[in-house]
Amino acid sequence: MKVCVVGASGFMGGEVIRLISMHPRLELEMACGHSTVGKKLSEVRPGLFWDKVIEDTDPAEIAKRCDAAFLTLPHGTSAALVEELVRLGVLVYDLGSDFRLKDPADVQRFYKRDAAPQQLLDIAEYRIPELTGGPRRDAKLVACPGCFATAMALGLAPLQGLTNEAQVFGVTGSSGSGIKPAPGVHHSLRSTSFTAYKPLSHQHIGEVSQVLAERGYTPQIDFIPHSLPAVRGIHLTILVEADVDAVKARFNELYADKELISLHDGPIPLGMTIGSLRVAFGFASQGGKTVIFAVIDNLLKGGSGQAIQNFNLQQGWPETEGLPLTGMWP
Ligand SMILES: NC(=O)c1ccc[n+]([C@@H]2O[C@H](COP(=O)([O-])OP(=O)(O)OC[C@H]3O[C@@H](n4cnc5c(N)ncnc54)[C@H](OP(=O)(O)O)[C@@H]3O)[C@@H](O)[C@H]2O)c1
Repeated sequence: MKVCVVGASGFMGGEVIRLISMHPRLELEMACGHSTVGKKLSEVRPGLFWDKVIEDTDPAEIAKRCDAAFLTLPHGTSAALVEELVRLGVLVYDLGSDFRLKDPADVQRFYKRDAAPQQLLDIAEYRIPELTGGPRRDAKLVACPGCFATAMALGLAPLQGLTNEAQVFGVTGSSGSGIKPAPGVHHSLRSTSFTAYKPLSHQHIGEVSQVLAERGYTPQIDFIPHSLPAVRGIHLTILVEADVDAVKARFNELYADKELISLHDGPIPLGMTIGSLRVAFGFASQGGKTVIFAVIDNLLKGGSGQAIQNFNLQQGWPETEGLPLTGMWP
């Protein structure tokens, strides 16, 4: 299938292109940009070794040449483009946040902006395959989950029936903030430091609560994210008052047949999932309390890789076809 990546110069766009280049059934027909139009991919992303020129984001041209488009744009910028692409019959995978939340009030609460048009929110399918299954065959718009949200939803879903409260301490690498350096997220400011941000108010709490509520689970989530002085990865430490054997039994039950999820005893290193689509969980306990550790690569399972996993499922192809299943750490 011929596909397009819009936002090709960004961290997530570049990662989607890298995965497409390794996928046996996908061909990158167009790489689109904004301020980088006219540059070669090899200029903005040397590691791709690809001289393809970044094109203007023209929906009519995309519709003429491509079956599907992966959008990796800043929050709040994709609605008009998505509306046009869907109208023109292009299958859209949006990796931003614009279509993740179903309730416009939640969009205001977590993003302080107006929601995308309701008819688009209504057709958008939010998919974490291990919890929701893949998109329906005739889905027109797929809302890909956030990176923290993916790890958190997968780490909390098995706790249904065991606890209604979870404390989540999270860390993320600097690539989670995108290619543009800004105060607070610039790597050179964080590489010799460490800080919490958005304590108890991070926007991903919204989509995690939504996907858990769809399963009938509405826990109180106390989430405190931190800026890790590393480039890639997400590590969560989830603390709950629940029996560890019961917790492990629920994880085993829910994820027994899930190829990408592995369960381990004790703490686990963030590095083990870097470069791969895998999700690893570790377990520890003391005196009736259980600690669950969760690690993923924010750019892969937390974004590009999960988008292609969903795409594979929607097309009826093998779920992990073309995707990296082994890590590259150290
Ligand atoms: N980074 C992660 O770990 C991660 C994980 C999950 C989801 N996401 C989501 O993926 C999206 C992209 O993230 P990123 O980290 O790749 O960001 P990024 O590195 O800043 O890239 C943003 C891209 O969007 C393009 N762009 C910027 N302003 C635009 C506009 N007004 N109209 C059209 N295109 C515009 C830029 O193109 P030009 O350079 O050509 O201007 C650039 O290619 C975000 O919504 C983010 O939340 C990111």
